[in-house]
Amino acid sequence: MKVITQIKALREYLNSIRKNDKSIGFVPTMGALHEGHLTLVRQSVKENLFTVCSIFVNPTQFNDPADLKKYPRTLQKDCEMLEEAGCDLVFAPDTSEVYPSEATISLTFGYLEEILEGKFRPGHFQGVGLVVSKLLHMVQPDRAYFGQKDYQQFLIIQTLVKDLNFPVKLIRVPIIREKDGLAMSSRNMRLSEEERAAAPVFFEALNAAAEVLKRDKNVNGARALAGRLIEEKNGVSLEYFEIAHPDTLKPLSNETVGDEVVLCVAGYVGNIRLIDNLIVNI
Ligand code: PAF
Repeated sequence: MKVITQIKALREYLNSIRKNDKSIGFVPTMGALHEGHLTLVRQSVKENLFTVCSIFVNPTQFNDPADLKKYPRTLQKDCEMLEEAGCDLVFAPDTSEVYPSEATISLTFGYLEEILEGKFRPGHFQGVGLVVSKLLHMVQPDRAYFGQKDYQQFLIIQTLVKDLNFPVKLIRVPIIREKDGLAMSSRNMRLSEEERAAAPVFFEALNAAAEVLKRDKNVNGARALAGRLIEEKNGVSLEYFEIAHPDTLKPLSNETVGDEVVLCVAGYVGNIRLIDNLIVNI
């Protein structure tokens, strides 16, 4: 497995891959890899002749500098895991390589960046949009893989790719969960034993709400029940729980609910922020 840190070297190497008509799959990450990331990599390996994974902790998507500082950085271990999963090339640039100077352009996504994650993390999706644009220009993949756990991020990237005509096929890969239902996340490694034991409450709340929806399409009841379950858990606080349209993320009510919905949740366990979601057919 090749490890490259410079954009110029990356482009040269990938040009030679493309000359041999090899399809390129791309998995952008911020490192601190877990089984969820490896599932994306394995799917890319299956569907492409060459797989690139980027590891770059993108400063422009952190609205809280303390969060950026604390973000786990485990490059050596990540590379070992990627090699094992069949990745062909790791692109691990420095911040100055990706941002040689402060970016002056900004990408906005309207309503989609003002709700849910966007509301609680102002500027986050502008940073994601910027870095994903840069990475797609650098790698020029045929397919790019993203996890469903960041559901709203996937919609943002879909918008980016559509509006800017990036010639790439986006693939959303289902959430990988621990045995007790906790969605895999790089942040989980920062949970204490007690916090780790409380963290599956988000998945439990999603399932409880899904049951209410399937039973009697009661959106308001489902939302209230999920909120209660989370608020009642010791050491856990709720930021939002929303039942929304899967394409637009517009909140639904008993009157507007359709056959497919997405349930999105975010909250804190101690001071670790976690998100999760569930797509439900009702
Ligand atoms: O999902 C992530 O890990 C990041 O938001 C991404 C897409 C790699 C951009 O930095």
